[in-house]
Amino acid sequence: MKVLIIGGSGFIGQKLARALASRGHLRGQPVTGLTLADLSAPAVVEASFPVNSVAANITQRDLVDSLAADRHDVIYHLAAIVSGQAESEFDLGMNVNLYGSINIYEAVRTLGHKPVLVFASSIATYGGETPDPIEDWYNLNPQTSYGAQKAASELLLNDYSRKGFFDGRALRLPTISIRPGKPNKAASSFMSSIFREPLQGQEAVCPVSPDYVHFFLSPRRVVENLIIGAEIPVESWGRNRSVLLPGRTHRIGDMVEAMRRVAGDGPVDRIRWEPDAELQKIVLGWRGLFNPARGLKLGFVRDKNFEDNVRYFLEDDLNTAV
Ligand SMILES: NC(=O)c1ccc[n+]([C@@H]2O[C@H](COP(=O)([O-])OP(=O)(O)OC[C@H]3O[C@@H](n4cnc5c(N)ncnc54)[C@H](O)[C@@H]3O)[C@@H](O)[C@H]2O)c1
Repeated sequence: MKVLIIGGSGFIGQKLARALASRGHLRGQPVTGLTLADLSAPAVVEASFPVNSVAANITQRDLVDSLAADRHDVIYHLAAIVSGQAESEFDLGMNVNLYGSINIYEAVRTLGHKPVLVFASSIATYGGETPDPIEDWYNLNPQTSYGAQKAASELLLNDYSRKGFFDGRALRLPTISIRPGKPNKAASSFMSSIFREPLQGQEAVCPVSPDYVHFFLSPRRVVENLIIGAEIPVESWGRNRSVLLPGRTHRIGDMVEAMRRVAGDGPVDRIRWEPDAELQKIVLGWRGLFNPARGLKLGFVRDKNFEDNVRYFLEDDLNTAV
């Protein structure tokens, strides 16, 4: 079982690589090799099987062709330009998030070996005037360029799977919190930093009101779900290769209180509440109430409550770079 993670330097890519290294098997077979690819060669993880690290920009088809030439059995496509940057740099977002996906799909189609291809999509694919809660099967109506690029990649993944070019699975990720490391250019970045920085003894700014409601999943559970996503039998997907991953809807004010219950008053006192109109233009277009019934039925997992997310951060990620 050869596995490729594209976007392997990313926060989720590195965690997934470590999880595969420690479990050692996927889809009922031992992992015999893992390739990590990103713009610059990712850090390798320690494993009982060979781990390669490759620099490859997915906007360059020839590089994607040579990356895929190893005919991996499972490919994780996690490479992306995040939401805030895809909004401010439209061409870059299109090139990476849409044409990059197409380069990967086409490289795999050309090889003809039909791997499992797991794609990290997003709840940013939903939006607009649909009633609450959003059901898995609602029409996609993204309100950002990032969401539109993810939605278009999903649609094509479904068609390439229908044609039998590969066995695609698109997982619509909730916002992952608490993300380790530094703030990034995702508009959702504050949804981790208002917990991460205070838990690490620093101040943080919350740009929305405590009543802002959103849909979350912990890093630990997203990695479990990426593994489950590759392992679900092909028959279970039916004619729809996309699924909303189960998360939990939380109000920001309640999440802050959950952090207080786990870590005391100190971290909560380090949050400054300063509304940011520009950022709110993006995040208020996102939806917060979801019914992930299909994901739960397929066997995906979620956190019990936000205290879980805080505890996992303290156990797994406190003061780590990525
Ligand atoms: N973290 C979240 O809250 C969240 C939510 C929804 C969806 N997602 C999706 O999950 C995936 C992984 O997210 P993450 O949080 O680990 O993001 P990340 O930014 O940490 O990782 C993405 C990686 O993609 C790489 N990349 C960007 N352009 C590339 C290119 N042209 N060629 C090759 N690699 C390139 C980046 O260098 C980065 O290492 C992404 O597709 C993201 O859109 C994440």
